[in-house]
Amino acid sequence: MAEAKPYLGTASVLSVEDIMPGVFRLRLQCPEIAAEAKPGQFVMLKCGDQLLLRRPISISDANAPSGQIGLMIATVGKGTEWLSLRKPGEELDILGPLGNGFTIGEKAEKLLLIAGGMGIAPLNFLARKAASLGKKVTLVLGARTGELLCPPSHLPKVDECVICTEDASIGIKGRVTDCPDAHIAESQQVFACGPLPMYRALAKDHRFNEKSMQVSLEVRMACGIGLCYGCTVKTRNGLKQVCQDGPVFQMGDISWGDLADL
Ligand code: FES
Repeated sequence: MAEAKPYLGTASVLSVEDIMPGVFRLRLQCPEIAAEAKPGQFVMLKCGDQLLLRRPISISDANAPSGQIGLMIATVGKGTEWLSLRKPGEELDILGPLGNGFTIGEKAEKLLLIAGGMGIAPLNFLARKAASLGKKVTLVLGARTGELLCPPSHLPKVDECVICTEDASIGIKGRVTDCPDAHIAESQQVFACGPLPMYRALAKDHRFNEKSMQVSLEVRMACGIGLCYGCTVKTRNGLKQVCQDGPVFQMGDISWGDLADL
């Protein structure tokens, strides 16, 4: 069946809510995208008239019946700051859903989701989808400090949640790679989203050798639709564009040593 074309149009702002320091949740009314979005896909949002290029933002939640989508956004520059100041009822220019998302195996019963920092954004959507399919989900969530952890009220309902903080302020002291062996051993599929050092550590961790692991890459994007080649990465199957071939890839397909810091 042919993929639906991405929607290019407007979305109405429903709410903007601070969820932790430097991170807010933007809820939009956009039935066209809510109906088609899959976990791991993203949208391109225009951030005011001053900035020409749209910004790529992971979809962290989508609900087809209500026509709503949720985005979890870190305020990291002028564009995202502009977004954080929007008011309910305003219209935003949006393109999406874009990219290839996560694939949940029909036979996989137990899924392990590993989120480093803002990596929780697309995994939130994936966890909800997995639960709706009757899968058992363990979420491993890591951050440098407890303050940088997504608050429980914004986390998806999962069967088990393991928290890791480097300063030991909450949960296990350490990083997501310090998660207990049992969670890895009993999962048939692993999904990860986080910063590059986390991926490099996971790629070296022998406990994941035999596992099917999908990772979501976050790179700079200009067009988001395969035109500018600005998001090209080297993989074991040749050069790939993150915006179209990804952002989700198999862990083993990426040449981690060749990837410049994202
Ligand atoms: Fe332009 Fe991917 S962002 S080709």
